[in-house]
Formats: sequence, C-alpha cells, structure tokens
Amino acid sequence: MSNKTTAIAHSNIAFIKYWGNFDARLRMPLNDSLSMNLDALKTETTVEFDEAIKEDVIIVGGQPADDKTRARVIAQLDLIRKQANISAKARVRSHNNFPGATGLASSASAFAALTLAAARAAGLELNERALTVLARHGSGSAARSIPAGFVEWLAATNVTSTSEQSYARQLLPPEAWDLKDVIAIVSRDPKQVGSSEGHAAVNTSPFLGERISRLPIRYHRMRRELLNKNLNGMGADIEAEAIELHMLAMTSRPPIFYWAPATVRVLDAVRQWRQEGLEAYYTLDAGPNVHVLVEAKQAEQVADRLKTFADVQQVIVSGAGPGAYTTDKHLF
Ligand code: DP6
Repeated sequence: MSNKTTAIAHSNIAFIKYWGNFDARLRMPLNDSLSMNLDALKTETTVEFDEAIKEDVIIVGGQPADDKTRARVIAQLDLIRKQANISAKARVRSHNNFPGATGLASSASAFAALTLAAARAAGLELNERALTVLARHGSGSAARSIPAGFVEWLAATNVTSTSEQSYARQLLPPEAWDLKDVIAIVSRDPKQVGSSEGHAAVNTSPFLGERISRLPIRYHRMRRELLNKNLNGMGADIEAEAIELHMLAMTSRPPIFYWAPATVRVLDAVRQWRQEGLEAYYTLDAGPNVHVLVEAKQAEQVADRLKTFADVQQVIVSGAGPGAYTTDKHLF
C-alpha cells in the first residue's frame, strides 16, 4: 500500500532563537522564533512502509542509525503511523549533502525531510501548516524547514493553546532577499550536549524569565526589519540573540559551553570589520561554528577574510533556501 517517497529539506539558521519548551513532550516552544533556510545544507530522505518487514530499518549516512537517533526517528514514524492509521514498519534511508564532515549535522533538515517523506509514503495528505506541526514533534526547528525562505514559528503559549496552534509560516520567499550566511567551521566535532538537553536545562538558568519577558519587543522589531529586508536594522538584535542563547546555556545547571577559542576570535573580527564599515553580523547555533550574515555583494569578501584564520577549517556560503519538497530520485 505504501508509496516509496523521497523528500529534501534544508537546514535553517535562526535569527530569533528557539531555546526552551513550554511543553517539552509536544515540543511547544517558550517563544516565537524566526529563521532563514540554508540552500547549501540539505538532507535527503527516502521512506517506504512495508508490511513484510518486522522492524523499522533506519540508515543514516550509509550506517544503521545509533540508538538515540533510531528512537527519535521511530517516535516520529509512530506519530505518522497513528495519524495514517497504518501499522507497517518502514525502511528509511537518509543522508546530508553537507560538504564534508562539518559539525553542522542538523536535526532541522533531517526531521523536516523525514516528516514530509513519511507522511506522503503513509498516504497522508497534509497542507504546509499541518506538516510544520508534525515536523515540530520530531525536532522543534524542523518546523521552520518546511516553508521556503524566511520563516517564523509561532509559539502558542496560552493555557488554552493546542499543538496545532504552534506552527511555522513563510515571511518572505527565498528569492525576495539575496542575504548570505557565510559559515565559518571552527570545529567538526559532534556536540557534547544536544539541543534537546539544552532545552530541558534552560529552566535552571536564572536569566530565562528576563529573556522571555523582553523578547516580544525584539521579535516585533526584527520581524518588521526582516520584511523591509533591512540587515542593518536587524543586526544588533541578531547578535544579541546569539549571545543570549549561549548565556542561557552557560548559566544552566549543569552549565553547557559550546564556544571554542576560535569562536571568540571570529566574533571579535566581525565586530572589528563593522568598525571598518563592512556590514556583517554574526550568529551561532548550539555549537562553536560562526554564521556571518551579509548582503550577497559582500559574501565573497567575508568568506576570503574568514579563510585566513588558522583555526577556521572550512567556509560555506549559503543563500536563502527552499522549503521541503519531494523528488522521484529515491535513495533505494
Ligand atoms: C540553538 O530544534 O535542534 O539551533 O527540538 O530538541 O530537536 P529539538 O531542538 P532543536 O533546537 C534548535 C536550537 C537552536 C536555535 C534555533 O534553531 O532556533
């Protein structure tokens, strides 16, 4: 009964960060967040349900998935099986196109691609909004990798809010703004502490309440400047978000440190370049690699400068990427 389906989804970089959940089980976040899909970083996933197999078979990057990944993927498949009212086990094969091992392994692109492929393979017909809600259950930031381009994910934190109200939607299509994310890879090591653990720990930071109470003003300012495609108007808030995310992680119990010495060196350099008139702003994920946002005309110059750092191992330039989509080029 199952149609083999392959989906492609791109990773995203958040300008307003998702860090902490209001309902961890449903991955309903504490705050709205805002991001750009990255055309250079994508995951491709093929899913086929098959009555004839006894267990889900999950291959990631050519290898059977480790136990933690396997459990997370099966939980997402179970959710989709329940919605589609099927019980067949699945064959899943997935790989990232990320150039080399970059330390950018992303649950956002992975769960967005898995969700779209599995939902279609199971025969579910879902609109974009419903897909973002479903992807969110697998990984919060995956909700933002379903729509194309520049995307916001609404939190829905009222006592009466339902899961369906926390969804992602497009703010601008990718072709609306030629913004570039110039990514400096300073470490290829897998993370010591995953984002999910970071979300769970953030309630122990004494600064969380302060952040959440101030965030709506920043969010509205950023959203407006994004719609105006005004990087200059967004820059200070983008950088403040990156620092706040890491400040919350560092002040959680036990503390989580993601920075490497090279992270600090690159942040310093970006501030220095700005003094010299180069309009570039940094942001960070839950890791040591630095994302430098610039208008397209400055991307090459920034990439060249970043390549001169001894501890920058690789530089990737990415524009705004598409949303999740299906293809008939299957991985098996
Ligand atoms: C720092 O979406 O990876 O990148 O829901 O547990 O999978 P899970 O977390 P995840 O968290 C992303 C955290 C972040 C900020 C962001 O992308 O908004």
